[in-house]
Amino acid sequence: MKELIQRLEQEALREIRAAAGGEMLEAARTKYLGRKGLLTEAFKKIGEASAEERPALGSLINEVKGRLGAALDERTRAASGGEEKAEKIDITLPGAPFRRGRIHPITKTVRDISDCFVSLGFMVVEGPEIETEHYNFEALNIPLEHPSRDAFDTFYLNSRSGTQLLRSHTSPVQARFMEKHKPPFAIIVPGRVFRPDATDATHSFMFHQVEGLVVGDRVTFADLKGVLAIFARQMFGVQTRMRFRPSFFPFTEPSAEVDISCFACARQKHLEGRRCSICGGKGWLEILGAGMVNPKVFKGVGYDPEKVTGFAFGMGVERIAMLKYGISDIRLFCENDIRFLRQF
Ligand code: DAH
Repeated sequence: MKELIQRLEQEALREIRAAAGGEMLEAARTKYLGRKGLLTEAFKKIGEASAEERPALGSLINEVKGRLGAALDERTRAASGGEEKAEKIDITLPGAPFRRGRIHPITKTVRDISDCFVSLGFMVVEGPEIETEHYNFEALNIPLEHPSRDAFDTFYLNSRSGTQLLRSHTSPVQARFMEKHKPPFAIIVPGRVFRPDATDATHSFMFHQVEGLVVGDRVTFADLKGVLAIFARQMFGVQTRMRFRPSFFPFTEPSAEVDISCFACARQKHLEGRRCSICGGKGWLEILGAGMVNPKVFKGVGYDPEKVTGFAFGMGVERIAMLKYGISDIRLFCENDIRFLRQF
């Protein structure tokens, strides 16, 4: 009987050691220590032994029960801890999918434009979106009777500190910068502008512009052309040609509107008589306004127009982005449609 119990213990210990996990350990516990387990059965058989042997057998079985219980507990703890640890360092699990964000196409276009001019030595400057009438109009030689000064053409704000408005262009930063700095300098001014236009595919009450201003000793119209030609080629491709059409802006004299050759026509030579959808068959795309700074603007900020000259230009960022990426509706920029934004 004693030997039988000892063999049972050896067998049980072997099984516990060999158990591969929690489930097998639980099975071993039931098999040996359970209510109908082998050790319980052994207890019942003590009655078959002689009266002198019984107490020793009883305590032996209890000792074996204690040792098996302890062995089972230890292995169970090790098994569950081991599983937890393995989980922590399992580098083979596939990662949780992570959606990468994108730069908004307008931000991207502003950055592309800025990068080009910064590489030419321009500095990036910003100005306020709430402007005074003085900087938005007067400092730029825009007279009171000019249509853009009409209350219906500009967002005026009621304020105690004089007439303020949401700037209708980035040009006011020209005067702000010149009042505080001496030439020579070359700046670009990206920023948001506001006009109460009825919204349609090409108009929005809010859009972005990039203004440029270069002032120095003997800055000429040739410099303006050179700088803009580099910009046009970098933005729209090396084969891009440029043309200047005479125009009028109160703050430049002479003034021009600048077109680039339509890159879409050039790419699809096989239009086969159909009109190009980008330029409407004209072959040219208007991209900005420009000119030589009007001496009146220089006088207004205390510069001597006999000593300095300069050129300025202004472009619409949405328009540039729409041309470059073939976007047909300006409203797409503000709709936050992920299917649109994901394409940049
Ligand atoms: N401010 C003009 C506009 O909003 C754009 C512009 C034209 C800016 C000519 C300039 C310039 O600096 O020289 O329509």
